[in-house]
Amino acid sequence: MRVYFDNAATTAMDDRVIEAMLPFMKEHYGNPSSVHSHGREVRSAIEKSRKKVAELLNASPSEIFFTSGGTEADNTAIVCGIQTHDIKHAITSPLEHHAVLHTLEECEKKGLLTLSMLEVNDKGEHNLDHLQELLKSNPKSLISIMHANNEIGNINDLNAIGNLAKEYDAFFHSDTVQTMGHYKHDLKNLPVDSIVAGGHKFHGPKGAGFLYVNKGKKISPFIYGGAQERNMRGGTENVIGIVGIAKALELAYEDMDSHRKHVEGLKSRFIEQLRTHISGVEFNGLSADLDKSLYTVLNVSLPPSEDNAGMLLFNLDLHGISASGGSACSSGASVGSHVLRALGASPERDAVRFSFSRFNTSKEVDYTVEKLKDLYSVIA
Ligand SMILES: Cc1ncc(COP(=O)(O)O)c(C=O)c1O
Repeated sequence: MRVYFDNAATTAMDDRVIEAMLPFMKEHYGNPSSVHSHGREVRSAIEKSRKKVAELLNASPSEIFFTSGGTEADNTAIVCGIQTHDIKHAITSPLEHHAVLHTLEECEKKGLLTLSMLEVNDKGEHNLDHLQELLKSNPKSLISIMHANNEIGNINDLNAIGNLAKEYDAFFHSDTVQTMGHYKHDLKNLPVDSIVAGGHKFHGPKGAGFLYVNKGKKISPFIYGGAQERNMRGGTENVIGIVGIAKALELAYEDMDSHRKHVEGLKSRFIEQLRTHISGVEFNGLSADLDKSLYTVLNVSLPPSEDNAGMLLFNLDLHGISASGGSACSSGASVGSHVLRALGASPERDAVRFSFSRFNTSKEVDYTVEKLKDLYSVIA
């Protein structure tokens, strides 16, 4: 049996998304900037996609900019947000994705801003009193706090953070890569200035994403060149990817409630079985709390075992189970998870992130628990 439990890293594409993209690899190959009919039909597909995304998010099409993915969108919001609004101080969290952390660290290195880190506890909860203190002494900051964490699944309260941002005239950017397509975002009512998406996290294509920027907080371009994306991002558009991401979001919204119910069921079953069969099992962050974490992510902390020390992911892989240790984006690098380190998680314990999608089944959960039981038979 082969089991794919690494859906926070990337998801399988939905066949209907592929079907929507195919005509733009075959017959509709015009350059969207060309004024002839070959160009116009492709331009029209881009604008339809933008309109679709905007409708689903309750935003205006002029607030949506297509990018190469979540990373570029995060970079754009942060780098151009601080430059356009003359921001000299930023607040973020040690739990952010590197797309945000490394961008802000680079800005600090270049002397563009000073950076403050928000306090977090051992469950990965942010101290919002600390946020308020930081804002009091540094109004007009940029805040970059993600909607939900890609490793431990913790969901942050965007309303609470956004209201504080408003009170202190701060620019509030949120990395929503892990919630886009899994939760509904109502941008007319959510107090954020910018959010982002990567299509491959919700059964769409890789290399396609978008950035939303509230029309009240315009920002300058990140990539200079032609007049594409209304002068906000030079370069011939990734038409195939744009059509794909819009279709993927449309499909995600269509069946969100039933998908959520299915995936939540898998996660609960997994938690319950692990608690029953693996003594000493724990869960990192709030990932075992269904109300406070992504239904797609479960970060399991397993007791130290000589048989598995440092080999657990490898052993699971031998049984056909693909999961990840912390963030897959840094797999290959020997450094451990910066998120688990910030939580003070014990390096002795093995941490595995299992992440689910609507394509997973309860059989796969049962199979994985059986294999974990075998691997941990010494202590179970
Ligand atoms: C929270 C978060 N932000 C940003 C990214 C980067 O997105 P992309 O792969 O689309 O560049 C990821 C991908 O793992 C992510 O999980």
